[in-house]
Amino acid sequence: MTCLPELIILLFGMKEWYEITGGNRLEGTVTVSGAKNASVAIIPAAILAGETCILENLPHIEDVQSLKTILEQLGVSVDITEGDCMRIDPRGQNTTRVIGPAVSSMRASYYLLGSMLGRYGEVELALPGGCVIGKRPIDQHIKGMRALGAEVELDEERNIIRAHASKLKGAEIFFDVISVGATINLMLAATAAEGQTVLQNVAKEPHVVDVANFLNMIGASVKGAGTDVIRINGGRKLHGCSYSVIPDQIEAGTYMISAAATMGDVIIKNVIPTHMEAISAKLMESGARITNGDDGRDFYIRVQMTDRPRPINVKTLPYPGFPTDLQQPLMAYLCSGSGVSIINETIFENRFNHVKELRKMGASISVKDKVARVKGIPHLHGADIKASDLRAGASLIVAGLAAEGTTNVANIHFIDRGYEHLDRKLQAIGAKIVRRVKT
Ligand code: EPU
Repeated sequence: MTCLPELIILLFGMKEWYEITGGNRLEGTVTVSGAKNASVAIIPAAILAGETCILENLPHIEDVQSLKTILEQLGVSVDITEGDCMRIDPRGQNTTRVIGPAVSSMRASYYLLGSMLGRYGEVELALPGGCVIGKRPIDQHIKGMRALGAEVELDEERNIIRAHASKLKGAEIFFDVISVGATINLMLAATAAEGQTVLQNVAKEPHVVDVANFLNMIGASVKGAGTDVIRINGGRKLHGCSYSVIPDQIEAGTYMISAAATMGDVIIKNVIPTHMEAISAKLMESGARITNGDDGRDFYIRVQMTDRPRPINVKTLPYPGFPTDLQQPLMAYLCSGSGVSIINETIFENRFNHVKELRKMGASISVKDKVARVKGIPHLHGADIKASDLRAGASLIVAGLAAEGTTNVANIHFIDRGYEHLDRKLQAIGAKIVRRVKT
């Protein structure tokens, strides 16, 4: 006879999954880890320093592990020291060729383009992977590198990008689209370019500012990060440093949504409240009570919810707008709303892969182009569902926590890429979630 977990494995081809018994009110305190999207940029940026950097407050997530593997394959010495610290010494680096499964498993490996072009004047890199959420071109990265004087060749047949420059020179670059990745990659390369680089129409996300702060700590001159224009005076002598990464805006937002979705009362610690304004505003509009505070050690946000969410309209936008990375978890929350919510995804072309899984839980969602119409129902019900990408995974977890009955979420390797100890953190605030492993 086939038991339930085996049946699930047969059905989903998975080895690990989360089993969630939904309907439990979340209550207590959860602490946010270091920001994924800052960490995965600052680790490659450490190559520019040419000396040892010690990074603190890094999250224990798969993307950080993958970057460690990639750097070690290049000859860089990487030690995870106590807790959440990483010591990176790039002096042993012996190649500028970065190929292999770890590179293609994630998006952020493309930051090695900027850091290695800056440091060594050459790089050969497998094209990045990452979440499948529509086309993700890198034309703005390439345009920027070329403006700095690099020769860049995109070998799409072999899935490789090559860049080299005898000397990078500062330039004025206007981005045609607001891109987090292109903004950061160009900050990295421009740090090594002679003279001034002016980047216009840049991304203003908290992790862009964090990378700029890190670059300034290693001796660069990066001004204006967090505004529309960044000025970099390149070519300075760089050096090692110790740097602590900011807390993760998206992880914090995921716990805020989870608290509201279970009609809970949760304090989310180690946040930067200004980074959370867009999500706080939308949760308040839907009926949640949000309080910001400072306990003398950490800033925190408390989320309290007592009723089904009121319907709201949400449009994803570059920071300080509502982050696309929280669109999927928010949709799961709105599935049990008391009316019709409209969600407009403007950043990525196909970030609705979670919808068909939510429908298996009873959600009433219709999608036309980039707009989803979510008609609230009293309760989602448990189902066997699978994550298609990182934030789709987070969305299904929120849905499972709020649903009646048992939900099995497969493909949790996507969730491991970006959430540290998700199960343990949720268990500590009262969730019934267990990581199941095929034995
Ligand atoms: N775009 C272009 N050309 C480019 C670059 C981007 O057309 O050269 C377009 C993209 O196709 C997209 C838009 O510009 O439509 C924004 O893309 P962006 O470059 O800002 O995204 P990214 O750098 O690939 C980062 C995060 C994503 C997050 C987005 C938006 C990392 C490693 N990834 O991606 O995070 O959704 O910014 O904020 O920082 C996640 O954490 O789950 C995640 C996907």
